[in-house]
Amino acid sequence: MTASGAWWTPWREDGSAVILHVDLRPDPGREARAFALLDEDERARWNRFVVKGARRQYALCRAALRINLCHRLGCSNRELSFGYLEHGKPFAKVNGAPSGSNFNVSHSGRHGLIGFAKRDGLGVDLEVRTPGRDFDGIGSRVYGPRERLALSGAAGREKADLFYRLWSLKEALIKALGTGFSLSPSRFEVPRPMIEGERSAVFRFPHLPSEPFRLEDLGEPRFAAACAYRLMG
Ligand SMILES: CC(C)(COP(=O)(O)OP(=O)(O)OC[C@H]1O[C@@H](n2cnc3c(N)ncnc32)[C@H](O)[C@@H]1OP(=O)(O)O)[C@@H](O)C(=O)NCCC(=O)NCCS
Repeated sequence: MTASGAWWTPWREDGSAVILHVDLRPDPGREARAFALLDEDERARWNRFVVKGARRQYALCRAALRINLCHRLGCSNRELSFGYLEHGKPFAKVNGAPSGSNFNVSHSGRHGLIGFAKRDGLGVDLEVRTPGRDFDGIGSRVYGPRERLALSGAAGREKADLFYRLWSLKEALIKALGTGFSLSPSRFEVPRPMIEGERSAVFRFPHLPSEPFRLEDLGEPRFAAACAYRLMG
């Protein structure tokens, strides 16, 4: 496929990670092209989604991931497949063998992100902000003491922004680690300077102090977003 028909664009890049933004607006032509690239297992998964938007998110992100991985790995779409770690984190295989590439995907509403990193241990997260939820109530279950205190001190739009900023930062970390929500997000806190608005910090999980991660707030007016990747120990 030529770049001109692409529904993804380069979005952020530093020396360690490259992040693409994926356009997930309804577009039947794109969706048909994306679906055609999925393998049998992926089509079966696509079929199990009952909500149309979830099907679209999955097909457009997975097909964009496929095209970009084929380019990076020098393989054909047919040669590429995915395996899944214990908690569902996907990894790429070429002709059945693990490829060693490091990527992560997130989607929410009409936006998706695909990240690629040089090293193992990348997580990306994107959250479209929905106003008017019980932010303090949800926060009391998923946030730690400092995070809850900051949230309780905010009001209105500021509270919603803080809630989603913290959420995307924590989920990027959980996805970098690969544990999913088997690790409760209340068991660790975003570094204090980032709670207060800094865009970047080094983070260590309390149970893994020897494994530092770079944590980046990538939020912008359209959505909250974050990425986390493992640094050299
Ligand atoms: C991973 C998880 C945090 C993603 O949350 P989400 O807000 O629904 O979704 P996002 O859009 O940010 O990310 C979804 C993508 O993350 C990736 N992903 C799935 N599991 C992952 C994991 N464990 N770690 C990192 N990435 C994961 C997939 O690429 C997925 O996209 P796809 O389904 O289109 O391929 C969540 O699904 C989860 O916790 N899964 C694990 C379940 C689990 O641990 N079960 C065990 C008992 S608790």
